[in-house]
Formats: sequence, C-alpha cells, structure tokens
Amino acid sequence: MFIEINEVHKQYSDKENQPVVVLKGINLSVGKGEFVSILGPSGCGKSTLLSIVAGLTKTTSGQILIDGNTITKPGKDRGMVFQQAALFPWLTVMENVTFPLKKEMKKKDAEEVALKYLQMVQLGKYLSHYPHELSGGMQQRVAIARALAMNPETLLMDEPFGALDEQTRSRLHVQLENIWTETKKTILFVTHSISESIKLSDRIIVMGTKPGTILQDITVDIPRPREEYKKEMLEIEDHIMSYLKKEIDKVVSEELQYANSH
Ligand SMILES: Nc1ncnc2c1ncn2[C@@H]1O[C@H](COP(=O)(O)OP(=O)(O)O)[C@@H](O)[C@H]1O
Ligand SMILES: [Mg+2]
Repeated sequence: MFIEINEVHKQYSDKENQPVVVLKGINLSVGKGEFVSILGPSGCGKSTLLSIVAGLTKTTSGQILIDGNTITKPGKDRGMVFQQAALFPWLTVMENVTFPLKKEMKKKDAEEVALKYLQMVQLGKYLSHYPHELSGGMQQRVAIARALAMNPETLLMDEPFGALDEQTRSRLHVQLENIWTETKKTILFVTHSISESIKLSDRIIVMGTKPGTILQDITVDIPRPREEYKKEMLEIEDHIMSYLKKEIDKVVSEELQYANSH
C-alpha cells in the first residue's frame, strides 16, 4: 500500500496536565491514486491524524509510511490544504502560488506552472489580485492551486470547503474531482459532511470520538460522475447516518450510566 498508518496513538495533556488520548490504535492503508475521506464528529482527531501524515505533528507511538519511507517531517511529496486558505496577504495570486515554486525552479518556469494550475481552478483572470480582493471560495482555489503546483504525490485536505457556501462548495467538488481524475493524486480528505464524503471518495473512513478510533471503512462503489446516482448515494448516506446514530446513542447512554453511578 502507498500510505500505511500503523498503530498510531496520540496523547495530549489537558489543562490539569492529565493525559488525554486523542487517537487510539489507528490503522489505515491507502492505495496510490485513491481518494479517501476521513469522516467524523468534531473533536474526534481528524485534523490531528492528517497533521501526523503531513509530518507536522509527532505520534505518541506508531508510525506512518509513505511509499515505504517513515514520515518524520513535512516533505514535498505531500501538499496540504487547510480549512482557511493560508495565503500571504501582501502577495498577489500569482506570487502566492509561485512563492514555494521559486525555490525549485527559475521564476519564468514557476510562473508557467502556476498559470497552468490557476487556470485549472478558473482563476486565470485574477493573477494580479491580492487575497483581500477575492471571495473565500476564490482564496481557497488559490490555496488548492498552490498545493497542486508543487506536484505532490499526495494531497492532504483538512475540511478545505468547510467555510464556503453550498454553491461554491458544489462547484469546487466538480473541479477537485476533475483534477483528481486528471492527475491521479492520492487524496486524504477530512470532512464532517457525510454527503460531501460520498460525493467525492472511493472510500470513507468513519471515525468515532473519545478516543478517536476508526469505526468503519466503507467502499463507495458508485460510478462517476455521481450526479446520476442520487438513489445509490442516499442509500450510503442512510447507512452512515443510522450507524452514527447508534454510536451517538451508545456514548450518551454510557455517559448517563456514568452520571447515575456518581
Ligand atoms: N495541540 C493540542 N494540545 C492539546 N490538545 C489538542 C491539541 N490539538 C488537538 N487537541 C485535542 O485533540 C482532540 C482532537 O482534535 P482535532 O484533531 O482538531 O479534531 P477534529 O479535527 O476531528 O475536530 C480535541 O479534543 C482537541 O481539543
Ligand atoms: Mg479539524
């Protein structure tokens, strides 16, 4: 497998310096070119897991292998897109995308590459604009273009469309799907939206919380483009919903039992 997440544990300390287990025994294999969504309630450790794969956060124990190499730090093989586009406000759209590229190549080549990806996300007419002159959706597209322009084998996306309105999100879904079909990147896509995960991914990893564990690994076997398969998508959505409802009921009843016995 291309990405191997082996027995990953992550523990933080809370305010009283007590250990809190955030991720417990996470095992996950992702094939090259797969589009995998990580779905789960807020606080279940999705961002922590992605940040570990990015090499930005250390595990407490366990390891991540990509293409056989143990991850210890960020690398050019992985591109990261966050929920809020982290753009440099004093650089133009073009400069934001060429900034990391200029370390790798001549300015002229960097601009050529940047232009290709900015056109891909339909921002070819906004090259000299500054981030504050763009909408949230456009800023997010700049961040996606910047990540793609580095040509990483793996894209790590942490709720990249979470802050956008429904219409913009739908448009970006189509663009991301096209980009993925064209470039065959391996994508780890974090979301808390069930419908978004079904629309986009080959597989959905459902996580539970306290501590963060993997509850289910669901293969989405629906042809693309998926707009024509609304019924099939709804079936999977119902399945995940009823499953998560059972999980939530379990947590609530455990908490009630605990409260009653104390
Ligand atoms: N740097 C940190 N120090 C302490 N606790 C943290 C830190 N980062 C995350 N956490 C805790 O870990 C848990 C999971 O967080 P996170 O990975 O952001 O979840 P998600 O992305 O699924 O919402 C949360 O309870 C959060 O408060
Ligand atoms: Mg998060």
